[in-house]
Amino acid sequence: MTTTPVNVTVTGAAGQIGYGLLFRIASGQLLGPDVPLRLRLLEIPPALKAAEGTAMELDDCAFGLLRGIDITDDPRVAFDGTNIALLVGARPRTAGMERGDLLSANGGIFKPQGEAINAVAADDVRVLVVGNPANTNALIAASHAPDVPRDRFTAMMRLDHNRAISQLAKKTGAAVGDIRRMTVWGNHSASQYPDLVHAEVGGENAAELVGDQAWIENEFIPTVAKRGAAIIEARGASSAASAGSAAIDHVHDWVNGTPEGDWVSVGMVSDGSYGVPEGLIAGFPAMSKNGAWQIVQGLEIDEFSRARIDASVAELVGERDAVKELGLI
Ligand code: NAD
Ligand code: LMR
Repeated sequence: MTTTPVNVTVTGAAGQIGYGLLFRIASGQLLGPDVPLRLRLLEIPPALKAAEGTAMELDDCAFGLLRGIDITDDPRVAFDGTNIALLVGARPRTAGMERGDLLSANGGIFKPQGEAINAVAADDVRVLVVGNPANTNALIAASHAPDVPRDRFTAMMRLDHNRAISQLAKKTGAAVGDIRRMTVWGNHSASQYPDLVHAEVGGENAAELVGDQAWIENEFIPTVAKRGAAIIEARGASSAASAGSAAIDHVHDWVNGTPEGDWVSVGMVSDGSYGVPEGLIAGFPAMSKNGAWQIVQGLEIDEFSRARIDASVAELVGERDAVKELGLI
């Protein structure tokens, strides 16, 4: 058994995603059943008391792997020596807020967090940004952490990925576990492109097996891309347990590796692959090997996919330009 606990920081720990996520982390589902950990919970002052309540509940679970919980409103304390940083807390859009206001409010969160990670995190720090707009928030944080390799900053596309797998399983009658090589390209937004051209169901090409382009265009893609809004409409609150579950999947695979021959969707910094401008944080097909994500290379992109990827990437370029104009990157 590993004896040195891994430091895991969760921001927005008192929020609805944090509430479910923390218990799964502490139970060993994030890193594995043999890996002890310490939790660092970052919140804003009005939510510290609620975070303390969650910590009391974590204590009450008597998780064998949990070696301690620190609660703070100071990013420099929260990220001190952190190995895994889950940036969940973000400023939601509220009535009357313009897009620029939202980006600016989130810049006020992710800039200091990036700076703190740069200053005090462990050398092997891995960052997953969940708080929306996730890709651009990750870009802001990464921009303020020049000493941390850019590929350690990722944005969550795994919920979109899992949603796409589930919709395809329902359509084909296959088991979720028979679906491989799903990719969700672009932005974690309604412009994302869940790609069946390269996905497989029981070893068969998914798009060919479905054999119904109208379903792909008019049902599959919009259902996956607008699922977040559908959940908000149904629940009266944004997805929480499924978002936490996707965060667990993302970090688990990053640390432990993806299964041989399979890949997952990761919001990661572009090296220019597939025509995505270098430096943008976009959804790509990625494999994790030796603890690092690598973009899957050499996939053929057909005309339909090209147009969909380009549209989502154009939205990311717009977000990047907006935060640049606001002086956030
Ligand atoms: P929530 O409002 O319930 O919780 C957010 C928490 O963040 C609050 O407790 C708040 O006090 C805290 N917070 C705000 N600013 C902070 C700061 N500077 N430092 C630390 N904590 C801070 O929201 P939620 O439902 O838990 O969702 C969190 C975020 O995740 C939202 O932005 C949501 O849109 C996003 N989300 C992303 C995905 C994805 O797939 N990427 C999926 C679902 C939700
Ligand atoms: C989701 O995909 O469920 C969320 O990103 C939706 C949201 O706006 O919080």
